[in-house]
Amino acid sequence: MVCNQPLIVANWKLHGDTGFAARLLGQLKLRLAAVEDVDVVVCLPFVLLPLAHELLDDSNIALGAQHVSDQGEGAYTGEVSARMLKDIGCDYVIVGHSERRHLYHEDDQSVARRLAQARTAGLIAILCVGETLAHHKAGTTDKVIATQLKALDEMDVDLVDPVIAYEPVWAIGTGQVPSTGQLADVRASIQVQLEKSCACRRVRVIYGGSITPENALELFGTDDIDGGLVGGASLDSDRFCRIVRAAESRACGVTNA
Ligand code: PGA
Repeated sequence: MVCNQPLIVANWKLHGDTGFAARLLGQLKLRLAAVEDVDVVVCLPFVLLPLAHELLDDSNIALGAQHVSDQGEGAYTGEVSARMLKDIGCDYVIVGHSERRHLYHEDDQSVARRLAQARTAGLIAILCVGETLAHHKAGTTDKVIATQLKALDEMDVDLVDPVIAYEPVWAIGTGQVPSTGQLADVRASIQVQLEKSCACRRVRVIYGGSITPENALELFGTDDIDGGLVGGASLDSDRFCRIVRAAESRACGVTNA
């Protein structure tokens, strides 16, 4: 498999305020300044993005949003468009997170529209896919993911490739993680699907769900996973930096002696 530069994405979810952001981002900027072989992104609540853009200026940490409108412009009260995100300095946006799918009823069609908006605006979309515990137990993971990946059908090939985040719903915030064997199976099935449905050139597949500094080395230790989407552990500078360091150890060209 081609070696992709690892990508570690912090997902703060509904946490933080300006004081918290100033403290945590200041620490990350300092502590991650020497990291070269891992792409690091922080996805914050909308209102903290302008401050974060200022704070992360001249750093190696990129900025992302957690959500984007499925519309470009118009009478859509409360929405934030992909172009607005790009305009305030975002490079990435999470699309189709399971919390959005389940708590806010975003279906596959609306996820596909958000993905298209993000890509058209030049944002790198992080498309989340993953099965519930019931699907996991029923052995229908591949089928669920294949359906979710249909959001990539008919994507314009000239636009920037998305990132796929495999986030099994049963692993998010639960302390449970899939085995490396399960991750390898899912990666293979995502790869098959991508080749069928998407004209994407080079897609990174990252994992999300209960990543900690303790399990990060094992999770990132295989070629099947190109990095991680980190929720809870991204709210602590020490824990998040240790996860980035774990990803660094599998960076392309770095051999683990
Ligand atoms: P978690 O969340 O790391 O707290 O499990 C991951 C996510 O939902 O993106």
